Amino acid sequence: MDFAPVDGSAGLSSEWRRSPYISWQALAYPSLKLGVLASGNGSNFDAIMTAIERSELRAAANVVICNNPDAKVLERAAQRSIPTALLNHREFESRELLDRAIVATLKQYDVDWVIMAGWMRRVTQHLIDAFSGRLLNIHPSLLPSFPGLHAVQQTLDAGVKLAGCTVHHVELAVDSGPIVMQAAVPILPTDTEASLQARIQGQEHRIYPAAIAIAAYQLARQTQAADV
Ligand code: GRF
Repeated sequence: MDFAPVDGSAGLSSEWRRSPYISWQALAYPSLKLGVLASGNGSNFDAIMTAIERSELRAAANVVICNNPDAKVLERAAQRSIPTALLNHREFESRELLDRAIVATLKQYDVDWVIMAGWMRRVTQHLIDAFSGRLLNIHPSLLPSFPGLHAVQQTLDAGVKLAGCTVHHVELAVDSGPIVMQAAVPILPTDTEASLQARIQGQEHRIYPAAIAIAAYQLARQTQAADV
């Protein structure tokens, strides 16, 4: 496997170069073959692709799987010449059968990490088992608070001061699983669901590429330790 690090230190000061801090762009992990699951707009998909194009994230998107024929993410993928597969959940008799088709498609495209980016379907154990430890999701709240639908409105209704977003490994319970990275977003007195969601999304686009790199690095370290 290829563990060459990305040089994320270009253009930084000599003090920074001496610092023990390693930016996520410089982490070492094998180059990733991503399968993206998305149901809607696809702004997180775009942010991930931008990080790849800037050589900040060592990965390629092998396929985008979408369950919604009208989703904008299909256009975004086509613009970047990324293969797409439309697996409309309405054409499957059960979640399990949809997930079996998803896993078969991911294998067909030789995917090794699955990135749920606005994927609006509950997953089954079949998908989790097929990509154990290599299946990530992003959610617009500071989990474990406010899992499930309408997380931003749930956050506003609770009257808390901080909103945010979370990238986590996927387990069977909705929006559960070990957390990889979070970003906090202060709530302003004037916030509406739309205004807060927009600021949260800005942070999602920042943390999702970083979280993918960190999760890949953690898995590479675990694998190396197990090999010793
Ligand atoms: C994001 O806010 C994410 O947290 C949630 O769905 C939204 C997807 O947005 N799971 P986009 O399709 O990536 O623009």
